[in-house]
Amino acid sequence: MRTETEHTIFLKDYAPSPYRIVAVDLDFDIFDKVTIARAQLSIEPEAETPPGTPLVLDGDGLSLSSVAIDGAPLMQSAYASDANSLTIVEPPQRRFVLETEVHLDPAANTKLMGLYRSNGVWCTQCEPEGFRRITYYLDRPDCLAVFKVTLTADAKLAPVLLSNGNLVRAGDAGDGRHFAVWQDLHPKPAYLFAMVAGDLGSITDSFTTASGKKVDLAIYCEHGKESQCDWAMDSLKRSMAWDERRFGREYDLDIFNIVAVSDFNFGAMENKGLNIFNDRLVFAQPESATDANYAGIERVIAHEYFHNWTGNRITCRDWFQLCLKEGLTVYRDQEFSSDERSRPVQRIHNVQGLRSAQFPEDSGPLAHAPRPDHYKEINNFYTTTVYEKGAEIVRMLATLLGETAFRKGMDFYFERHDGEATTIEAFLAVFADSSGMDLDQFKTWYLQAGTPQVSVRDAYDAENQTYTLELDQLTAATPGQLEKSALVIPIRFGLIGPNGSPMGWSSVSGAEVRDDMIVLREDSAVLRFEGVANRPVPSLFREFSAPVQVHADRSQDDLLFLAQHDSDPFNRWEALQDVSSALLIDAVDGKRWDDKALDGLRQAALQTLDSDTLDDAFKALALEIPDASVLGQKIGKDIDPARIHSTRKDFIAALFGPVVGTLETAYEALTSNKPYAPDAAQAGQRALRNQLLKLIVGAGGDDALAVQQYSEAGNMTDRFAALTIVGTEWTHDAAGLLADFHTRFATHDPLVLDKWLMISARADDDGVIERMQAILADPAFPKNNPNRLRSLVGSFVLSNPVQFTRADGAGFRFVTGFVADVDARNPQVAARVLTGFRIWPILEPKRREAAKAALADLQQSASLSRNTADILGRMLA
Ligand code: PHE
Ligand code: ZN
Repeated sequence: MRTETEHTIFLKDYAPSPYRIVAVDLDFDIFDKVTIARAQLSIEPEAETPPGTPLVLDGDGLSLSSVAIDGAPLMQSAYASDANSLTIVEPPQRRFVLETEVHLDPAANTKLMGLYRSNGVWCTQCEPEGFRRITYYLDRPDCLAVFKVTLTADAKLAPVLLSNGNLVRAGDAGDGRHFAVWQDLHPKPAYLFAMVAGDLGSITDSFTTASGKKVDLAIYCEHGKESQCDWAMDSLKRSMAWDERRFGREYDLDIFNIVAVSDFNFGAMENKGLNIFNDRLVFAQPESATDANYAGIERVIAHEYFHNWTGNRITCRDWFQLCLKEGLTVYRDQEFSSDERSRPVQRIHNVQGLRSAQFPEDSGPLAHAPRPDHYKEINNFYTTTVYEKGAEIVRMLATLLGETAFRKGMDFYFERHDGEATTIEAFLAVFADSSGMDLDQFKTWYLQAGTPQVSVRDAYDAENQTYTLELDQLTAATPGQLEKSALVIPIRFGLIGPNGSPMGWSSVSGAEVRDDMIVLREDSAVLRFEGVANRPVPSLFREFSAPVQVHADRSQDDLLFLAQHDSDPFNRWEALQDVSSALLIDAVDGKRWDDKALDGLRQAALQTLDSDTLDDAFKALALEIPDASVLGQKIGKDIDPARIHSTRKDFIAALFGPVVGTLETAYEALTSNKPYAPDAAQAGQRALRNQLLKLIVGAGGDDALAVQQYSEAGNMTDRFAALTIVGTEWTHDAAGLLADFHTRFATHDPLVLDKWLMISARADDDGVIERMQAILADPAFPKNNPNRLRSLVGSFVLSNPVQFTRADGAGFRFVTGFVADVDARNPQVAARVLTGFRIWPILEPKRREAAKAALADLQQSASLSRNTADILGRMLA
């Protein structure tokens, strides 16, 4: 059992620092084996600070070489220091300069927090608490200072020297060394600090802002990869233009730099003027990146850029407010993608992601409020709840306020809080103040964990021409939060008449109804619509207007009617999903579908495929059969993923078996010789064609067509789609195809190797664990690179439910063994992989016990990081 003392940090204990750092002067002397970091911090006490209050700076694994105040070295008795803090016993009661020096060993930093080396390049990651691994500091987001940074290094090892802000000076430093001085005049918290030093290639461009300022743009990367950065640059320029158009936000520095690095724990980081990216979210070329990769790059480039206003100019007071910048910025990047691509398709993708990741988190042992009120390890709160549910909350706010009032509120937010470190309360207050709307109850969305369950019942009274709609909401207890209160739930809706067109009503009572929106505020409501001429079919939660799970017992006929007639594309898609889910869930339960039901669904699917008005990307989604994890989530208890998986396979065969010929014809018709372009139209066509391929193979069981597509593919999207189909079903061609992919495409490109690793982890046969063990045991396997590790083990946990949850426990033990091993080197990767166990409480008893035993064994490990111990503790609580 671990010994490190566990301490919990509470939101209610927040107190401002008694000292403030106004300016920072950092000096990095970079050598191959050591980096010397000297810091000069201009510090002053706050007005209310009583004389004699000690100054306590954060550190993490530091060793202090020297300390001075205003140039005079400090006496032993004047300070105390250890690896994790530096205390100045009695600081001057006026502004003073604290000078420290520490020696760092970036090459030994496998945690990838603070200053580390990736592929020889020196780079930093400071959010949330990495800066304290670089120098002693008030490492908290409400401590804003201006930074001046001097970097000195060997001119050959590190011709490129970058930091935040603008370059003010550079030159020769003698001895083959050179230096650069960067200054960032925007006060910022330390988590937004960054520096990069190394031998890098680059591409450059420029963007002229609406007010006519020219901004120099550059993307830095390892030599030889420059041509793969064009898409990222294009995405950046479009993001800059979009933020001006949509939110009136211009960029505020003369330079915007992006650096791609190979070793990075997350996706990317929004450091002021110097974004650092995981290279998988920068590099794209048709031969090695898929359409999904292109879309992901576009989205994350936008996301990090948008942080410049929502995160950097206005930052978080403390880490409990993380959702303030992340939820809002995800909302902004989702809107960007919707405007750049197809809005309905974008919405469906986002909801699929929410359901397959956030819903399970929200109903499992790791459930937490979007704004939590305590944590043990903040790194474990960069979750889908904070990000994606956070974005849904902002979306609901926009829905409730309407577009104009929402934009007005956002303008007011930028005006009122620019330059501040603030809170969720302050964010909500700008909307309340600018619109006059009371948002007290709305705030509960931020404070309460769990996915609300909304039940719907309806009835039509022909005689009185009255339609009643009964709505109930219920949020189940979550860990540490047993009592739940009612939420404000915006339900965008419409009533559809027998001929498929919208129906009106003369009056409605029972809840607030505004145009096309019901606002549910109570635990339950009964709405009475008067003057309704015929029995309507209701379309509820259009555009998925609230992140809830809906329970409505609707007939298949009504659902298929919606699939055909709803004016809301999201609900058309949703209706087809509901039909499939209902049949599948019954079948898992032992009630096999009847042929008539299947015929109806098949017809609807073919009609969708045939439509001249729907776009290809939408059709591809409409033909999707709900995935096993979403079904498991819906079933909710005692699930057997292997059974769900095989039922789903039988279902696809039964549904599409009779029409394979039709699917093949449609597949052929979508074949194109056009040169690859990543645009939405082409990507949609490929998505539909690859969806058809999946269904054809699934329906016929013969993978010949997939093997053929694999060999003939002119781009990675088509090749990888074919490989995925063959590899995950582990058909007789799989081993050969994977080997071929490895030698021909993966050996020289780590990002393609990731694709090979993903498929290697996803095969549903019993041999998969052994094959993964062999991959990990290969001495050539880069066992410290987060992308490689996550592609293999992360994919196994999240995308191979059958083998991960094997009843004999081998899948669970494989993962806990991996976690124990990696934890010593990179706790963040270990903890993140471990979260995949969050579904264990809803497994059937045998699997549940096996999972619990593996987790309990892990808990016996001698020493676990705080990250992993925190996840494990909550998982087993
Ligand atoms: N702030 C980053 C983002 O979402 C995520 C991140 C967190 C990156 C912590 C690195 C470390 O844009
Ligand atoms: Zn972010």
